[in-house]
Parts: sequence; structure tokens; C-alpha cells
Amino acid sequence: MAILVTGGAGYIGSHTCVDLLEAGEEIVLLDNFSNAARDVPDRIKTLTGKDFPVYETDILHVGDLRTVFDEQPIESVIHFAGLKAVGESVAQPARYYRNNVTGTLNLCAAMADAGCKRIVFSSSATVYGLSPDVPFREDAPLSAINPYGMSKLVIERILTDIAAADERWSIALLRYFNPIGAHESGMLGEVPRGIPNNLLPYIAQVASGQLATLNVFGNDYDTKDGTGVRDYLHVRCLSEGHLKALAYIREHTGAEAINLGTGTGYSVLEIISAFEQASGVPIPYVFAPRRPGDAPVCFADPSKAHALLGWKATRSLFEMCRDAWNFAKRPTGGAL
Ligand code: WQD
Repeated sequence: MAILVTGGAGYIGSHTCVDLLEAGEEIVLLDNFSNAARDVPDRIKTLTGKDFPVYETDILHVGDLRTVFDEQPIESVIHFAGLKAVGESVAQPARYYRNNVTGTLNLCAAMADAGCKRIVFSSSATVYGLSPDVPFREDAPLSAINPYGMSKLVIERILTDIAAADERWSIALLRYFNPIGAHESGMLGEVPRGIPNNLLPYIAQVASGQLATLNVFGNDYDTKDGTGVRDYLHVRCLSEGHLKALAYIREHTGAEAINLGTGTGYSVLEIISAFEQASGVPIPYVFAPRRPGDAPVCFADPSKAHALLGWKATRSLFEMCRDAWNFAKRPTGGAL
């Protein structure tokens, strides 16, 4: 029996595929490669010495989804496939709802028809909206401040309702905080298309000389140094959380929302300093106006993940920055 990993060639998906294979799982990788390099499956095969089927298709292609389940013995799904650029979602809301929500409904239909009722879903801390009630617990009020976040919120509700209607479903809704870093081999990492939206890949491209200066969005927040605070966790820790969630849904039915974060918040200036220490490269920056939609502070209460999954983030901020730089400084600079 195999685990279907949708979006398996992506940043978090590829790291999770490596960990699944190294744990002895069989996988099937599905990706449309709209935001992933085509050689990622081969890198995963090289890293693990394992082979697996790859389906280049889209979760909007219902017929292809059914083919995957017809051809492969899928017992569980880890569902990463989705559009995830906040700013782009504001400009293209219908595309985000169609791809993320309709795509997930297509996937659930194909799963149900195949009798596969276990899914780990890639949700996001963005479902906590701009709430000031940090650290966020899973029972905190949920809201969305952009179509990307709303798509995650809607999918969480859909999956929760599916589990309520049919008790044979086992569903983990993993709310990621801020994954950063890369596989220690330097073969997998975050490869943004164009100018990075997120802090770490932007800093990495400043360090590699692809970009000149970092704009720090706001230094007048009510935080330790006036800059935004987030809960950064190593992508390998996040990946390990997926294997723990898979083990959990194999033993439990129903739907559970679970934070995957460290429980510690770092400011932008602290991240800059940590990256400079890890890379030995100075990161020039200027203060710029706040970015619309940014929350001042966002970090997790990770106690449920520890209690339910036996998972904790273990890697340090230094390791996150060291591994991010080790990947970004490769000859291709990490660019797609
Ligand atoms: C982090 C901090 C910025 C860039 C992310 C993803 C979103 C979703 C939720 C997955 C903030 C500051 C950033 C820059 C800066 N991910 N910053 N200069 O905002 O928490 O959102 O997590 O579901 O897709 O974007 O992360 O890395 O964009 O920003 O000062 O050039 O860095 O203001 O305080 P964020 P981020």
C-alpha cells in the first residue's frame, strides 16, 4: 500500500517524500510542477535510493486523479498541492478558490470512490487571521484576511464536515507556522519563482547577491524591536510532523486541527542576525512601510502536537539559517 503525496515536488512535499521513503513507506508523487523544479523527483530518488511512481497532473483533472487511484494501491493521502502566494491570491481569488478548494473536493471524491479515507491536509497558521491572542491554540477563533487564507479555512471546514458525516474518515489538519531551511544535503530547499515573497528566501537571495537589499516591512510594531514576529520552524521538523500525523490518522478516526510550530517567536531583525551568523554574510536592509495584511505577532502553542502526535520541533534557528544558506548558495542559487 502507498501514500499519495500531492504537491510532492514542492518545498515541504519533497522533504516529506524523503522522510516517508526513509521510514520505509511506499509513495506515489503527484505534482503539476507549476511551482516545483522537474528534477525534484529524481533528487528524491538519488537522496533515498528508492524508486516511486510520479504522476505529472493537476488536482483539477478529475480523470487523472481517478487513474492514480485505479493504478496505485493508495492507503492514505498527504495533500500539499495548492497555490500559496498571499498577494497573488488577492489579485486572482477565483483561481485560488478553484485550484485549492475545487481541487481538494476532486481529491476527496477520488479518495472516497477508491475507499481511501485517510488524509493529512496542509493547512496554515494563516487561519488564525489577525487575532492578537498569541500563542495560538487550535481552539482559537479562526478567520481569513485574504483568499489564500480563506481557501485554507474553507478546506478545513469541508474536511471537518466530511469526517462528521462519515466516521470512517481520518483527517489531520496541520496548521504550519513559518517553515524555513532546507535538507542538510543541499539537494532540496525552497525555490521561489521570481522575487520571493517570504522573508527567508529573500534574505538568502540578498546573501547570494541576486538581490541587493532587504526591505524590512515595518519597524513600528508593538514587538521587542518593532519588527514583525513569527514562529519559524525547520522544514525537516515540519516534515517529521507529517509522519507523526500519518501514524496518528492510521490509529484514529475523525478530524483534528494541529499546530506545527516551535512555540517561539523571532523578529525580522533577529532572523537577519541569525542568518548573518550562520552564513557569515552581511545582510543589508532598510526599513520600509508595513506590508498590508501582516499580523504583528504570530506564534504557536504547540502543546497539542506534542500531546497527540508526540512531535516537537527540535532544530535551532542557527540550523534553520545554516541549512537555508547551504541550499541557496548552490550554483543555481536555488532559483527555478
Ligand atoms: C515573515 C515576516 C514580514 C518579507 C507566510 C506566507 C504565507 C503563509 C503564512 C503558508 C513578516 C517580514 C517578509 C520581506 C519582511 N504560508 N518580511 N520583508 O507573512 O508569516 O506569511 O506564512 O501557509 O504564504 O507568506 O511570512 O515570510 O512572508 O513574512 O520584512 O521581504 O517577515 O513582514 O513580519 P508570513 P513571510
